[in-house]
Amino acid sequence: MQTCWIVYNGSLTHDKFLDQALLLKEAAEKKGILAVLVKNYELLMNVHESLSTRPDFVVFLDKDILLAKYLKNEGIPVFNDPSVIEICDNKAHQYLALAKANVPMPLTIIAPKVYPEFSILNTGYYEQVLQVLQLPMIIKEAHGSFGQRVYLIETREQFFEKVEELKGIEYVFQQFIHTSRGRDIRVNVVGGQVVACMHRQSATDFRANITNGGTATEIVLTEKQKEVAIQAAAALNAEFAGVDLLFGEDEEPLVCEVNGVAHIRNIYNVTGINVGDAMISYILSKIGAVVI
Ligand SMILES: Nc1ncnc2c1ncn2[C@@H]1O[C@H](COP(=O)(O)OP(=O)(O)O)[C@@H](O)[C@H]1O
Ligand SMILES: [Mg+2]
Repeated sequence: MQTCWIVYNGSLTHDKFLDQALLLKEAAEKKGILAVLVKNYELLMNVHESLSTRPDFVVFLDKDILLAKYLKNEGIPVFNDPSVIEICDNKAHQYLALAKANVPMPLTIIAPKVYPEFSILNTGYYEQVLQVLQLPMIIKEAHGSFGQRVYLIETREQFFEKVEELKGIEYVFQQFIHTSRGRDIRVNVVGGQVVACMHRQSATDFRANITNGGTATEIVLTEKQKEVAIQAAAALNAEFAGVDLLFGEDEEPLVCEVNGVAHIRNIYNVTGINVGDAMISYILSKIGAVVI
């Protein structure tokens, strides 16, 4: 019998992380795989020793990139690949890669590194950013999920307060796509194919994240939306991707971000599709496992 480890973060106490792992376990077991849930801290990353037990593959649902790399070094196939998890975990890095691949996205400027004890307020740098992107604009920290580190900046005061606050932190400035205020689309791509999608909408916030109060409904994607979501996943070599799409001026899709470890519960509730099924089928076909 094939075995897999489903690695998730054990320090996060919110039920949704365990729930996510259970959805994958269910999908693996349906395919006759013995699936073991593993909290990241349950594996001792002793770099001098090899693991005493090893699975046939790992579904990595955490952002503990060092652990993902450690497991890959042990010769275990890890999905997503650690390099994909790493690039997706940093929005500044992923926007660089998306832009390089000509993926349609909002205008984005990566903030320069400013050490916390210093300031570039008097250099004219920020005036240039204001001139290019105008207000309102989005400021987004490189690391963040569930809408928590994405800010809508409406005034110059808010702008300067935020840039001072974010010294020492990686972040980007981004054009605010006003035609997408409070709405977006989540598209789950597996192995270059769209497997599920949902429309997310919030009546109270510019962010459509469900964790932030948004509600989700079914949607049928246009060919263009599908194409852009697949293009975004491919630009980051993401075998699994949760792509957020915004609605541009003419409803054209613009990539908001790509999640390398996308949560799949909400989309399951909305569409009845367990994206985990497609993930496990994809892995099995890739590693050439015999399905019992
Ligand atoms: N440039 C933008 N213009 C308009 N809305 C945006 C923009 N960027 C993000 N949003 C809104 O904020 C939400 C969270 O942003 P996102 O980049 O997906 O970060 P997170 O990783 O926190 O989900 C998006 O789902 C979208 O509703
Ligand atoms: Mg998002």
